[in-house]
Amino acid sequence: MEYTTLGSTGMEVSRLCLGCMSFGSSDWRGWVLEDEESKAIIERAIDLGINFFDTANMYSKGESERILGEALEGYREQSVVATKGYFQMREDDPNSGGLSRKAIEQELDASRDRLGMDTIDLYQIHRWDDDTPIETTLRALDDAVRRGHVRYIGASSMWAHQFADSLYTSDRLGLERFVTMQNHYNLVYREEEREMLPFCENEDIGVMPWSPLARGYLTRPHAKIDATKRGETEEHMYDHPYRDGGGQEINERVAEIAADKGVTMAQISLSWLLHKEWVDAPIIGTTSIEHLEQAVDALELSLSSSEIAYLEEPYEPVAVSGHD
Ligand SMILES: NC(=O)c1ccc[n+]([C@@H]2O[C@H](COP(=O)([O-])OP(=O)(O)OC[C@H]3O[C@@H](n4cnc5c(N)ncnc54)[C@H](OP(=O)(O)O)[C@@H]3O)[C@@H](O)[C@H]2O)c1
Repeated sequence: MEYTTLGSTGMEVSRLCLGCMSFGSSDWRGWVLEDEESKAIIERAIDLGINFFDTANMYSKGESERILGEALEGYREQSVVATKGYFQMREDDPNSGGLSRKAIEQELDASRDRLGMDTIDLYQIHRWDDDTPIETTLRALDDAVRRGHVRYIGASSMWAHQFADSLYTSDRLGLERFVTMQNHYNLVYREEEREMLPFCENEDIGVMPWSPLARGYLTRPHAKIDATKRGETEEHMYDHPYRDGGGQEINERVAEIAADKGVTMAQISLSWLLHKEWVDAPIIGTTSIEHLEQAVDALELSLSSSEIAYLEEPYEPVAVSGHD
Protein backbone atom coordinates (compact mmCIF):
# COMPACT_ATOMS: atom_id res chain seq x y z
CA MET A 1 0.00 0.00 0.00
CA GLU A 2 1.09 3.53 -0.74
CA TYR A 3 0.65 6.15 1.98
CA THR A 4 0.50 9.92 1.77
CA THR A 5 0.43 12.77 4.25
CA LEU A 6 -3.13 14.06 4.47
CA GLY A 7 -2.88 17.79 3.70
CA SER A 8 -1.25 19.64 6.58
CA THR A 9 -2.32 17.11 9.26
CA GLY A 10 0.97 15.19 9.45
CA MET A 11 -1.15 12.00 9.48
CA GLU A 12 -0.21 9.27 7.05
CA VAL A 13 -3.17 7.76 5.21
CA SER A 14 -3.43 5.07 2.56
CA ARG A 15 -3.88 6.50 -0.94
CA LEU A 16 -7.28 4.86 -0.97
CA CYS A 17 -9.89 5.66 1.64
CA LEU A 18 -12.59 3.02 2.12
CA GLY A 19 -16.04 4.60 1.85
CA CYS A 20 -18.54 3.02 4.24
CA MET A 21 -21.78 4.29 2.69
CA SER A 22 -22.20 0.78 1.24
CA PHE A 23 -22.23 -0.78 4.73
CA GLY A 24 -25.19 -0.86 7.08
CA SER A 25 -28.66 -1.98 6.17
CA SER A 26 -30.50 -2.68 2.91
CA ASP A 27 -33.57 -1.09 4.56
CA TRP A 28 -31.82 2.24 4.01
CA ARG A 29 -30.85 1.69 0.36
CA GLY A 30 -31.42 -1.60 -1.44
CA TRP A 31 -27.79 -2.09 -2.53
CA VAL A 32 -26.26 -1.63 0.96
CA LEU A 33 -24.59 -4.65 2.59
CA GLU A 34 -25.59 -5.97 6.01
CA ASP A 35 -23.28 -6.43 9.00
CA GLU A 36 -21.33 -9.60 8.24
CA GLU A 37 -20.63 -8.94 4.56
CA SER A 38 -19.65 -5.35 5.36
CA LYS A 39 -17.16 -6.46 7.98
CA ALA A 40 -15.59 -8.95 5.55
CA ILE A 41 -14.82 -6.05 3.19
CA ILE A 42 -13.44 -3.84 5.95
CA GLU A 43 -11.24 -6.71 7.16
CA ARG A 44 -9.91 -7.32 3.64
CA ALA A 45 -9.18 -3.59 3.32
CA ILE A 46 -7.13 -3.74 6.52
CA ASP A 47 -5.22 -6.79 5.16
CA LEU A 48 -4.47 -4.80 2.01
CA GLY A 49 -2.97 -1.97 4.05
CA ILE A 50 -5.88 0.50 3.89
CA ASN A 51 -5.86 2.54 7.10
CA PHE A 52 -8.28 5.33 6.13
CA PHE A 53 -12.07 4.93 6.51
CA ASP A 54 -14.89 7.38 5.78
CA THR A 55 -18.43 7.11 7.11
CA ALA A 56 -21.24 9.48 8.17
CA ASN A 57 -23.92 9.48 10.84
CA MET A 58 -26.65 9.39 8.15
CA TYR A 59 -25.38 6.25 6.36
CA SER A 60 -27.96 3.58 7.14
CA LYS A 61 -29.09 5.87 9.99
CA GLY A 62 -26.01 5.16 12.07
CA GLU A 63 -25.56 1.48 11.22
CA SER A 64 -22.52 2.20 9.07
CA GLU A 65 -20.73 3.86 12.01
CA ARG A 66 -21.63 0.97 14.33
CA ILE A 67 -20.34 -1.65 11.88
CA LEU A 68 -17.13 0.27 11.17
CA GLY A 69 -16.44 0.70 14.90
CA GLU A 70 -16.89 -3.02 15.54
CA ALA A 71 -14.83 -4.04 12.51
CA LEU A 72 -11.93 -1.85 13.65
CA GLU A 73 -11.75 -3.34 17.14
CA GLY A 74 -8.13 -4.27 17.72
CA TYR A 75 -7.05 -2.01 14.88
CA ARG A 76 -8.28 1.36 16.16
CA GLU A 77 -4.90 2.95 16.84
CA GLN A 78 -3.52 2.12 13.39
CA SER A 79 -6.58 3.48 11.59
CA VAL A 80 -7.66 6.97 10.63
CA VAL A 81 -11.42 7.26 11.05
CA ALA A 82 -13.45 10.02 9.43
CA THR A 83 -17.15 10.62 9.93
CA LYS A 84 -19.58 13.40 9.11
CA GLY A 85 -22.60 15.21 10.50
CA TYR A 86 -25.20 17.62 9.12
CA PHE A 87 -28.17 15.70 7.67
CA GLN A 88 -31.20 15.34 9.93
CA MET A 89 -31.06 12.05 11.82
CA ARG A 90 -34.59 11.82 13.25
CA GLU A 91 -37.71 12.97 11.40
CA ASP A 92 -39.38 14.27 14.56
CA ASP A 93 -36.32 16.21 15.76
CA PRO A 94 -35.25 19.19 13.63
CA ASN A 95 -32.25 19.75 15.92
CA SER A 96 -30.81 16.35 14.93
CA GLY A 97 -29.54 18.01 11.75
CA GLY A 98 -27.76 21.20 10.72
CA LEU A 99 -24.61 22.69 12.19
CA SER A 100 -25.84 24.53 15.27
CA ARG A 101 -23.82 24.05 18.47
CA LYS A 102 -26.67 21.88 19.81
CA ALA A 103 -26.76 19.64 16.74
CA ILE A 104 -22.98 19.30 16.55
CA GLU A 105 -22.55 18.46 20.24
CA GLN A 106 -25.42 15.96 20.36
CA GLU A 107 -24.80 14.28 17.02
CA LEU A 108 -21.04 14.09 17.56
CA ASP A 109 -21.63 12.31 20.87
CA ALA A 110 -24.02 9.90 19.13
CA SER A 111 -21.38 9.18 16.44
CA ARG A 112 -18.72 8.55 19.09
CA ASP A 113 -21.07 6.13 20.86
CA ARG A 114 -21.91 4.20 17.71
CA LEU A 115 -18.26 4.05 16.62
CA GLY A 116 -17.27 3.07 20.16
CA MET A 117 -14.47 5.65 20.00
CA ASP A 118 -13.73 8.42 22.50
CA THR A 119 -11.94 10.39 19.82
CA ILE A 120 -12.73 10.66 16.11
CA ASP A 121 -9.71 11.40 13.92
CA LEU A 122 -11.52 13.57 11.39
CA TYR A 123 -14.98 15.09 11.92
CA GLN A 124 -16.42 16.62 8.76
CA ILE A 125 -19.39 18.85 8.07
CA HIS A 126 -21.36 17.00 5.40
CA ARG A 127 -22.80 20.19 3.85
CA TRP A 128 -22.95 23.95 4.42
CA ASP A 129 -25.70 25.12 6.77
CA ASP A 130 -27.39 28.33 5.58
CA ASP A 131 -29.20 28.68 8.92
CA THR A 132 -26.14 28.73 11.20
CA PRO A 133 -23.36 31.32 10.99
CA ILE A 134 -20.08 29.57 10.18
CA GLU A 135 -18.54 31.23 13.25
CA THR A 136 -20.99 29.33 15.51
CA THR A 137 -20.20 26.04 13.78
CA LEU A 138 -16.45 26.59 13.94
CA ARG A 139 -16.56 27.51 17.64
CA ALA A 140 -18.49 24.30 18.42
CA LEU A 141 -16.03 22.23 16.37
CA ASP A 142 -13.03 23.96 17.97
CA ASP A 143 -14.44 23.12 21.41
CA ALA A 144 -14.85 19.48 20.34
CA VAL A 145 -11.15 19.40 19.48
CA ARG A 146 -10.26 21.02 22.86
CA ARG A 147 -12.41 18.43 24.67
CA GLY A 148 -10.47 15.67 22.91
CA HIS A 149 -13.54 14.33 21.07
CA VAL A 150 -12.12 15.14 17.65
CA ARG A 151 -8.56 15.41 16.36
CA TYR A 152 -9.08 17.29 13.09
CA ILE A 153 -12.02 18.93 11.37
CA GLY A 154 -12.91 18.78 7.68
CA ALA A 155 -15.58 19.88 5.24
CA SER A 156 -17.48 18.37 2.33
CA SER A 157 -19.18 19.65 -0.83
CA MET A 158 -19.84 23.40 -0.80
CA TRP A 159 -18.96 26.44 -2.91
CA ALA A 160 -15.31 27.47 -2.89
CA HIS A 161 -16.28 30.93 -1.55
CA GLN A 162 -17.94 29.25 1.46
CA PHE A 163 -14.85 27.16 2.12
CA ALA A 164 -12.65 30.26 1.81
CA ASP A 165 -14.95 32.06 4.26
CA SER A 166 -14.56 29.15 6.73
CA LEU A 167 -10.77 29.21 6.61
CA TYR A 168 -10.67 32.99 6.86
CA THR A 169 -13.04 32.93 9.87
CA SER A 170 -10.92 30.29 11.65
CA ASP A 171 -7.75 32.28 11.06
CA ARG A 172 -9.36 35.53 12.19
CA LEU A 173 -10.69 33.99 15.41
CA GLY A 174 -7.79 31.64 16.14
CA LEU A 175 -10.01 28.54 15.81
CA GLU A 176 -9.25 25.11 14.36
CA ARG A 177 -9.25 25.17 10.55
CA PHE A 178 -10.79 22.65 8.23
CA VAL A 179 -7.89 20.51 7.06
CA THR A 180 -9.68 18.39 4.46
CA MET A 181 -12.17 18.75 1.61
CA GLN A 182 -14.37 15.79 0.65
CA ASN A 183 -15.77 16.81 -2.72
CA HIS A 184 -17.44 15.37 -5.80
CA TYR A 185 -14.74 14.72 -8.40
CA ASN A 186 -14.25 12.15 -11.15
CA LEU A 187 -13.55 11.95 -14.89
CA VAL A 188 -17.13 12.90 -15.79
CA TYR A 189 -17.57 15.56 -13.08
CA ARG A 190 -14.67 18.04 -13.10
CA GLU A 191 -16.32 21.31 -12.11
CA GLU A 192 -14.20 21.33 -8.94
CA GLU A 193 -11.11 22.04 -11.05
CA ARG A 194 -12.27 25.63 -11.56
CA GLU A 195 -12.04 27.01 -8.00
CA MET A 196 -12.12 24.44 -5.22
CA LEU A 197 -9.14 22.25 -6.12
CA PRO A 198 -6.65 25.05 -6.88
CA PHE A 199 -7.77 26.73 -3.65
CA CYS A 200 -7.21 23.49 -1.68
CA GLU A 201 -3.78 23.14 -3.23
CA ASN A 202 -2.80 26.68 -2.15
CA GLU A 203 -4.08 26.09 1.39
CA ASP A 204 -2.51 22.61 1.78
CA ILE A 205 -5.93 21.03 2.30
CA GLY A 206 -6.17 17.23 2.13
CA VAL A 207 -8.45 16.29 -0.78
CA MET A 208 -10.52 13.11 -0.59
CA PRO A 209 -12.97 12.96 -3.52
CA TRP A 210 -16.27 11.11 -3.22
CA SER A 211 -17.87 8.98 -5.95
CA PRO A 212 -14.50 8.68 -7.75
CA LEU A 213 -16.09 6.16 -10.14
CA ALA A 214 -19.21 8.29 -10.69
CA ARG A 215 -21.28 5.86 -8.64
CA GLY A 216 -20.38 3.04 -11.03
CA TYR A 217 -20.94 4.96 -14.30
CA LEU A 218 -17.19 4.85 -15.01
CA THR A 219 -16.87 1.11 -14.37
CA ARG A 220 -18.82 -0.33 -17.31
CA PRO A 221 -20.11 0.69 -20.75
CA HIS A 222 -22.84 3.31 -20.32
CA ALA A 223 -25.43 1.07 -21.95
CA LYS A 224 -24.89 -1.48 -19.15
CA ILE A 225 -25.26 0.89 -16.25
CA ASP A 226 -28.29 -1.02 -14.93
CA ALA A 227 -26.35 -4.30 -14.80
CA THR A 228 -25.89 -4.25 -11.00
CA LYS A 229 -28.30 -3.86 -8.13
CA ARG A 230 -26.87 -0.44 -7.34
CA GLY A 231 -26.95 0.60 -10.99
CA GLU A 232 -30.59 -0.34 -11.08
CA THR A 233 -31.70 1.09 -7.73
CA GLU A 234 -29.31 3.96 -6.86
CA GLU A 235 -31.54 7.03 -6.82
CA HIS A 236 -28.65 9.48 -7.32
CA MET A 237 -27.27 7.74 -10.42
CA TYR A 238 -29.48 9.90 -12.62
CA ASP A 239 -29.33 13.08 -10.48
CA HIS A 240 -25.72 13.68 -11.39
CA PRO A 241 -24.91 14.96 -14.89
CA TYR A 242 -22.59 12.06 -15.76
CA ARG A 243 -24.07 11.53 -19.23
CA ASP A 244 -24.09 15.24 -20.08
CA GLY A 245 -21.33 17.16 -21.81
CA GLY A 246 -18.88 14.59 -23.10
CA GLY A 247 -19.80 11.94 -20.51
CA GLN A 248 -20.73 9.18 -22.94
CA GLU A 249 -17.64 9.72 -25.07
CA ILE A 250 -15.44 9.68 -21.95
CA ASN A 251 -17.05 6.41 -20.86
CA GLU A 252 -16.19 4.93 -24.28
CA ARG A 253 -12.60 6.19 -24.11
CA VAL A 254 -12.17 4.67 -20.64
CA ALA A 255 -13.33 1.33 -22.10
CA GLU A 256 -10.91 1.68 -25.01
CA ILE A 257 -7.84 2.39 -22.85
CA ALA A 258 -8.84 -0.34 -20.39
CA ALA A 259 -8.98 -2.87 -23.27
CA ASP A 260 -5.59 -1.67 -24.61
CA LYS A 261 -3.95 -2.10 -21.24
CA GLY A 262 -5.79 -5.30 -20.28
CA VAL A 263 -7.26 -3.80 -17.09
CA THR A 264 -10.79 -2.85 -16.01
CA MET A 265 -12.59 0.42 -16.67
CA ALA A 266 -12.75 1.02 -12.91
CA GLN A 267 -8.96 0.80 -12.73
CA ILE A 268 -8.46 3.34 -15.53
CA SER A 269 -10.96 5.77 -14.00
CA LEU A 270 -9.39 5.48 -10.56
CA SER A 271 -5.89 5.74 -11.94
CA TRP A 272 -6.81 9.00 -13.70
CA LEU A 273 -7.82 10.46 -10.32
CA LEU A 274 -4.69 9.13 -8.60
CA HIS A 275 -2.57 10.94 -11.19
CA LYS A 276 -4.05 14.31 -10.13
CA GLU A 277 -1.61 15.94 -7.73
CA TRP A 278 -4.28 17.75 -5.75
CA VAL A 279 -5.91 14.42 -4.78
CA ASP A 280 -4.70 12.78 -1.56
CA ALA A 281 -7.02 9.77 -1.30
CA PRO A 282 -10.17 9.01 -3.32
CA ILE A 283 -12.96 7.45 -1.26
CA ILE A 284 -13.86 4.22 -2.97
CA GLY A 285 -17.28 2.62 -2.55
CA THR A 286 -17.65 -1.08 -3.12
CA THR A 287 -19.69 -4.09 -2.07
CA SER A 288 -17.19 -6.56 -3.54
CA ILE A 289 -13.84 -7.86 -2.31
CA GLU A 290 -12.76 -8.40 -5.91
CA HIS A 291 -13.47 -4.76 -6.76
CA LEU A 292 -11.62 -3.63 -3.66
CA GLU A 293 -8.59 -5.65 -4.76
CA GLN A 294 -8.82 -4.12 -8.24
CA ALA A 295 -8.79 -0.65 -6.70
CA VAL A 296 -5.62 -1.47 -4.78
CA ASP A 297 -4.00 -2.87 -7.95
CA ALA A 298 -4.86 0.39 -9.74
CA LEU A 299 -2.24 2.11 -7.56
CA GLU A 300 0.39 0.37 -9.70
CA LEU A 301 -1.08 1.59 -12.99
CA SER A 302 0.54 4.37 -14.88
CA LEU A 303 -1.13 6.56 -17.49
CA SER A 304 0.91 8.57 -19.98
CA SER A 305 0.22 12.28 -20.43
CA SER A 306 -1.27 11.56 -23.86
CA GLU A 307 -3.62 8.93 -22.37
CA ILE A 308 -4.70 11.43 -19.71
CA ALA A 309 -5.29 14.09 -22.36
CA TYR A 310 -7.30 11.61 -24.46
CA LEU A 311 -9.53 10.75 -21.49
CA GLU A 312 -10.06 14.40 -20.60
CA GLU A 313 -10.58 15.85 -24.06
CA PRO A 314 -14.35 15.26 -24.52
CA TYR A 315 -15.25 16.89 -21.16
CA GLU A 316 -17.56 19.88 -21.39
CA PRO A 317 -18.81 21.89 -18.39
CA VAL A 318 -21.86 20.36 -16.72
CA ALA A 319 -24.33 21.56 -14.09
CA VAL A 320 -22.93 21.79 -10.56
CA SER A 321 -23.87 18.70 -8.64
CA GLY A 322 -23.30 17.46 -5.10
CA HIS A 323 -24.28 20.64 -3.28
CA ASP A 324 -26.64 23.61 -3.71
N1 LIG B 1 -19.57 13.69 1.11
C1 LIG B 1 -20.55 13.30 0.36
O1 LIG B 1 -21.51 14.02 0.14
C2 LIG B 1 -20.51 11.92 -0.22
C3 LIG B 1 -21.41 11.56 -1.25
C4 LIG B 1 -21.31 10.26 -1.78
C5 LIG B 1 -20.36 9.38 -1.30
N2 LIG B 1 -19.50 9.76 -0.29
C6 LIG B 1 -18.44 8.86 0.19
O2 LIG B 1 -17.75 8.33 -0.92
C7 LIG B 1 -17.78 6.90 -0.88
C8 LIG B 1 -17.79 6.35 -2.28
O3 LIG B 1 -18.94 6.77 -2.96
P1 LIG B 1 -19.59 5.89 -4.09
O4 LIG B 1 -19.96 4.55 -3.56
O5 LIG B 1 -20.64 6.71 -4.75
O6 LIG B 1 -18.29 5.72 -5.02
P2 LIG B 1 -17.86 5.17 -6.40
O7 LIG B 1 -16.58 4.48 -6.09
O8 LIG B 1 -17.87 6.28 -7.39
O9 LIG B 1 -18.96 4.14 -6.90
C9 LIG B 1 -19.16 2.89 -6.37
C10 LIG B 1 -19.80 2.03 -7.45
O10 LIG B 1 -18.77 1.61 -8.37
C11 LIG B 1 -18.80 0.20 -8.48
N3 LIG B 1 -17.44 -0.34 -8.58
C12 LIG B 1 -16.39 -0.09 -7.78
N4 LIG B 1 -15.29 -0.77 -8.21
C13 LIG B 1 -15.68 -1.47 -9.30
C14 LIG B 1 -15.02 -2.36 -10.19
N5 LIG B 1 -13.73 -2.66 -10.03
N6 LIG B 1 -15.73 -2.90 -11.21
C15 LIG B 1 -17.03 -2.60 -11.37
N7 LIG B 1 -17.73 -1.76 -10.56
C16 LIG B 1 -17.05 -1.20 -9.53
C17 LIG B 1 -19.43 -0.28 -7.20
O11 LIG B 1 -20.00 -1.55 -7.43
P3 LIG B 1 -19.73 -2.76 -6.41
O12 LIG B 1 -20.44 -2.40 -5.16
O13 LIG B 1 -20.27 -3.93 -7.14
O14 LIG B 1 -18.22 -2.82 -6.22
C18 LIG B 1 -20.45 0.79 -6.91
O15 LIG B 1 -21.63 0.54 -7.64
C19 LIG B 1 -18.97 6.56 0.00
O16 LIG B 1 -18.87 5.28 0.59
C20 LIG B 1 -18.93 7.66 1.00
O17 LIG B 1 -17.98 7.35 2.02
C21 LIG B 1 -19.58 11.01 0.23
